Amino acid sequence: VTTSFAAPVSSTISSEPNPLPRRQKGLALIVIGTGRIGSELLNQIAVHPRALGGELRVCAIANSRRWIWKRNGLNLRPWTLQIRRSSVRTDLDELIQRTRDLRDVTVAVVDCTASSAVVDAYTRFVEAGAHIVTPNKKANVLPWARYRLLLQSFAQCDRRFLFGPTVGGGLPVLSTLSTLLSTGDTVRAIEGVFSGTLSYLFNRYDGSRPFSALVREAHQLGFTEPDPRVDLSGSDVASKLLVLARQMGIPSELNDICVEDLSTPCLDADIARRFKSVSRDGAVLRYVGRIRDRTISARLESLPRSHPFANTRHADNIVAFHTRRYSETPLVIQGPGAGPEVTAAGVVSELLRLLQS
Ligand SMILES: NC(=O)c1ccc[n+]([C@@H]2O[C@H](COP(=O)([O-])OP(=O)(O)OC[C@H]3O[C@@H](n4cnc5c(N)ncnc54)[C@H](OP(=O)(O)O)[C@@H]3O)[C@@H](O)[C@H]2O)c1
Repeated sequence: VTTSFAAPVSSTISSEPNPLPRRQKGLALIVIGTGRIGSELLNQIAVHPRALGGELRVCAIANSRRWIWKRNGLNLRPWTLQIRRSSVRTDLDELIQRTRDLRDVTVAVVDCTASSAVVDAYTRFVEAGAHIVTPNKKANVLPWARYRLLLQSFAQCDRRFLFGPTVGGGLPVLSTLSTLLSTGDTVRAIEGVFSGTLSYLFNRYDGSRPFSALVREAHQLGFTEPDPRVDLSGSDVASKLLVLARQMGIPSELNDICVEDLSTPCLDADIARRFKSVSRDGAVLRYVGRIRDRTISARLESLPRSHPFANTRHADNIVAFHTRRYSETPLVIQGPGAGPEVTAAGVVSELLRLLQS
């Protein structure tokens, strides 16, 4: 049985054309979050030709404690020093007011947090005139009714919500899905390894070190979510699957997704036992997410070494689109799907789309 999926649910989604009203040239940015992604993003913007040419300018940088602001654009070279020296406490209401003050330019709020408080402020930012660009999945997995309301606010204010980096970091996963749907293909199933962290862990694990030691290593390398339990519990994969499913017009909720939670108290012993068992059959363990027939699931699977998902490297994501047109062989996207450099580049790519539209 195959299922046809409807076109995406809103005209404000990531990859659809959505013309902007003409304003002063360029893009003013309010960057919220200076952690792994936010810092790397600011470093990439600092040396980007469009920023050096004055088209991209960062007017505000905020983290959970303090923020800095300059209407005509901050000098990014010493941004870390500036924010460390700032005594101004972060206040989202104040940032929303500053967004309103920038009404003569196109403004994008770049949410590089994993914060629900920032997501809760999206509607007010949008009403103040900002587009939202983000790798944060929290908005996309809001209860369906709230998510619809959020999309409506983008549509009403003619602002865009660009969240390409939420799935696959810098890989073109959501844009590929959008292209398949907008060109009239029928997506029958999407499956793959969606977690850079779990990919890294199962690519590296050989039974010689406890699994939890590898988790710590992945966290130090910046692959994991701020809280690695979000990766191990499968909830990060579930969120990514929900982002994709909703783009396919499936109005699911997180609770509808059948997820295997690996974060048990016996993590090390459980993984060691399963690894031993599949190794005897010459197979490997991979944490696979799947959307098929409107059913969404994620679990640890034993795959033969010949399977494409068995041949991922390092922290690769691999995503296979099974469609009417790609029926003999799926359309496959593979590559590093986590890590500050590629994820921040995914954010820059969304900013450039906004700049060019
Ligand atoms: N790491 C990856 O490879 C990856 C890949 C794809 C997507 N993502 C997503 O990217 C986002 C950022 O990840 P990350 O690894 O950069 O996280 P991170 O290193 O923990 O940084 C989070 C930042 O958000 C700030 N923050 C938290 N709550 C805030 C609030 N209420 N107001 C203002 N700032 C607030 C924190 O401030 P403080 O500095 O004051 O604590 C910190 O600077 C997450 O949503 C994650 O899911 C990450």
